[in-house]
Amino acid sequence: MNIPDIIIAIDGYSSTGKSSFARKAAARFGFLYLDSGALYRGVTLFAREEMLINRLNKVNPALEKALENLDLHFSADGRLFMGPRCIEQEIRSLEVSSQVSPIAAVPYVRHWVDDKLHEFGRRGRIVMDGRDIGTAVFPNAELKIFMTASEEVRARRRYDELCAKGEKPLLEEVVKNLRERDYIDSHRETAPLRRADDAFVLDNSEMGFDEELAWIQGVIQGKFSIL
Ligand code: DC
Repeated sequence: MNIPDIIIAIDGYSSTGKSSFARKAAARFGFLYLDSGALYRGVTLFAREEMLINRLNKVNPALEKALENLDLHFSADGRLFMGPRCIEQEIRSLEVSSQVSPIAAVPYVRHWVDDKLHEFGRRGRIVMDGRDIGTAVFPNAELKIFMTASEEVRARRRYDELCAKGEKPLLEEVVKNLRERDYIDSHRETAPLRRADDAFVLDNSEMGFDEELAWIQGVIQGKFSIL
C-alpha cells in the first residue's frame, strides 16, 4: 500500500493497547513510531528520582526549572533514554504508572513534552500515540484514531503486562489505578483526553493484532482512496 506522508494520531484510554498497535502499524507502513506517553513517564521517573514529587502526588514547582536539564530521547528502535541510560523498563513500573497522570496534568510539563513532540513530528510519516495527539498536539493530523476497550479487558492486559515483568500486582490495585488514571486524564484542565470529532473509533476488546491491522488498512484505503 502506497501511503502518503501523513501523521497518524492515535489517542485513547490507558491499556487499550495503543502503543503495541501504533508500533505495528508503523512497522507495516514504514513509518516512525513515537510514544508520547513514554515521555510523560520519563518526566515522572525523573521527578521521582529528583524527589520533586511526593507520596501524595504533590509536584514541587522546582520541576519546571529542572526540566531544562532533562535529556529524554528515543533510540532508532524506539526505546526511551534519559541521557545515556535506557529507562524503557523503569518507566513501565507500577510506581511510575501511579504517578504519571498527576505529572501529565501539570501545564508546564505538557508544554515541555509538546515541544519535543513537535520537534520529532516535523518530518511526517509518523505514528504517534497518546491522549491529546489528535486534539491538541497535531490537530491537523491527516488520520486520527481513538482507541477504547472494556475496563475488564484493559485491566487484564495491564495485569498480565506487569506479571510478565516479574511484578506481583493485585488485580484490584490495577483496576483502581486504571480508573484513577482515566479520571485524571479526562478531567484535567489542560488538554484532557477526549475523542476528536474527526477521529475513527477502534474498540479492540475482541480484536487481535491482525484484525486491528486489517481495520486500519481499510480505514486508510477508504480515506485516501488507495488500492
Ligand atoms: O500511554 P501511557 O499509559 O504510557 O501514558 C502515560 C500517562 O501519560 C497517561 O496516564 C496520560 C499521560 N499522557 C498524556 O497525558 N498525554 C499524552 N499524549 C500521552 C500520555
